[in-house]
Amino acid sequence: MFESVLGIKKPTFGLDIGYRTMKLVQISGTGKRAVLRGAIEVPIAEGTLTKEGVKEKNKLAEQIIAAMSQAKPHAISAKIVSSALPESLVFTKEIDMPKMSLKELNKSIPYQATEFFPIPPDETYMDWQIVGQKDSNIEVLVVAAPKILVNALAEVVSLAGLELMGLETKPAALSRALINPQDKGSFLILDIGAKTSGLTCYDQQTIKLTSTVAIGGDNLQTDFAGSIRLLSSEILHLIKYYQNRIGKAQIINKIVLAGGGTNVEKTIDLIENLTKIKTIIGQPQVDLKGYDPRFATAIGLAVKEI
Ligand SMILES: Nc1ncnc2c1ncn2[C@@H]1O[C@H](COP(=O)(O)OP(=O)(O)OP(=O)(O)O)[C@@H](O)[C@H]1O
Ligand SMILES: [Mg+2]
Repeated sequence: MFESVLGIKKPTFGLDIGYRTMKLVQISGTGKRAVLRGAIEVPIAEGTLTKEGVKEKNKLAEQIIAAMSQAKPHAISAKIVSSALPESLVFTKEIDMPKMSLKELNKSIPYQATEFFPIPPDETYMDWQIVGQKDSNIEVLVVAAPKILVNALAEVVSLAGLELMGLETKPAALSRALINPQDKGSFLILDIGAKTSGLTCYDQQTIKLTSTVAIGGDNLQTDFAGSIRLLSSEILHLIKYYQNRIGKAQIINKIVLAGGGTNVEKTIDLIENLTKIKTIIGQPQVDLKGYDPRFATAIGLAVKEI
């Protein structure tokens, strides 16, 4: 690519399609010089991303174009999109494999995957990473995204006259947004969305384990006490599982919050109280004025390097 030879970086923006709204963020500059160019949240049809693909592709493409021009403080000008799939639509599985070379792993993982993923490997885009070691086994985190969904999203982006730079999972975007890449600590990242929350064990600079629970900001608003108790017990449950299951797991001593549900009053205090783990609102690695945790995923997507 001539762009990289000339050292010119093409601007990109983050597109986070949530359950009820989508968020767009463009950031210019990097590190301390990063400034928010434009951000916006707009309503979309509920549950736009589904296992079957994307609802109303043309309409969504039009909504993206309109949102770009209405972003504040400036319209979003980037033409390259960085987006993510929700954990609930991606298959994730942590498996034990006997020690073998990377080449052998590449060959045997898709074969193994037929056992634990509900759809055939050739209908998914698959990726994996080593997350730990225990005795003579290695622990591998395997992620598979349904092709039908990835292709549908690529089509929407193209209908909007844009180019899809890449897709990742929301936990990957969130951890980039909120965790200092030099930090070797261990965190539970909790993304409280509208109907569901995403839980991610992040330890020693990698995502080790993820899960989704059917409790979101909507539940916190209707039955706060009950929902927060359930959510906290799911957090403790995942942490316990993580610490028993993954070799060399560190003790998780901080919960990092993101997502709109974080804004429901007393959420932070009660999660800290019930889990007895220090709980904070995750702050973006780039210094942005007036940050709202609803935008965490979109920010992480926006700062992804090509
Ligand atoms: N300022 C606020 N005060 C209270 N609740 C809020 C506030 N802002 C958002 N919420 C709640 O947060 C939830 C939406 O959060 P968010 O925008 O992160 O979800 P989403 O990204 O659309 O969902 P998902 O990530 O699950 O797809 C809703 O339940 C909403 O009512
Ligand atoms: Mg979200």
